[in-house]
Amino acid sequence: MNKKITIVGAGNVGASAAHIAAMQNIGDIVLLDIVKGLAEGKALDIAQSAGVYPFSGRIQGTTDWSDTADSDIVIITSGLARKPGMNRDDLLAKNTEIVKSVTEQIVRTSPRAFLIVVCNPLDAMVYAAAAVSKFEKNRVMGMAGALDSARFAGFIADELGVSIGDVRGVLMGGHGDDMVPLPRYTSVAGIPLTELLAKLIERTRKGGIEIVNLLNTSAYYAPAAGAVRMAQAILRNEKAVISCCVWCDKQYQVGGSFVGVPAVLGAGGVEKIIELNLTTEEQKAFALSVAHVRELVEKVKAML
Ligand code: LAC
Repeated sequence: MNKKITIVGAGNVGASAAHIAAMQNIGDIVLLDIVKGLAEGKALDIAQSAGVYPFSGRIQGTTDWSDTADSDIVIITSGLARKPGMNRDDLLAKNTEIVKSVTEQIVRTSPRAFLIVVCNPLDAMVYAAAAVSKFEKNRVMGMAGALDSARFAGFIADELGVSIGDVRGVLMGGHGDDMVPLPRYTSVAGIPLTELLAKLIERTRKGGIEIVNLLNTSAYYAPAAGAVRMAQAILRNEKAVISCCVWCDKQYQVGGSFVGVPAVLGAGGVEKIIELNLTTEEQKAFALSVAHVRELVEKVKAML
């Protein structure tokens, strides 16, 4: 039997994720939205694209949670996106409400699913989904590092004139301007980038708002690709190392918080956290980012 992936929210990120997941043949897809017709229309459109570029999974659009029952993975993309002038934290109140109600439905319909959260402020929304679902921590994660590392890799590839596929960018921390790109662990075809690429690091940190300012809404193709990549790693038991937002306790002296780190994703969800050796400076930057995530989580706690 095919694996079942539910994507909640048929907006830009959700619909793009559905399209990518279909093209990657990772299973049957259910696209759900509360707006009548939206998920149904987009699912039908995506399904018909298989007549041009074939894929074998089924894709269904719905407004009815019962269609999502017993999903293996649920990707939560619903929530407000940023407009120019906003930062991700401005979305906290509204998106906490949305994540809470969506998660309650998931607990009812797919109690064994893995959850991949994509809405912002990302790390705090992962906390909200984990707190409401009470799922084991290895089953709840957030997509940010896959996107931020892809952006970092893209900027490096452009700057050096090399293929993006040859660049491996490593990043840690919360999904905000204080995220911590790690040039020491970033390589081009295995060759480490020893020079600190300050300009590219800054552009990566502000990579989200660069697109918001161009589009008047937030990015979606690369975030969707990041979420599908995580789902694929779990469904295919790849044991792939992907930076993502996961529960960290003793690791990196976090002391209990969902935050971005390189993790091994496989059939057990988050199977392991990779602990890189950090310099004092890198550890300090990471701790600052964790502190920011904690502040947001305190606000979420007051709302749940
Ligand atoms: C971004 C949004 C998705 O970084 O947070 O583009």
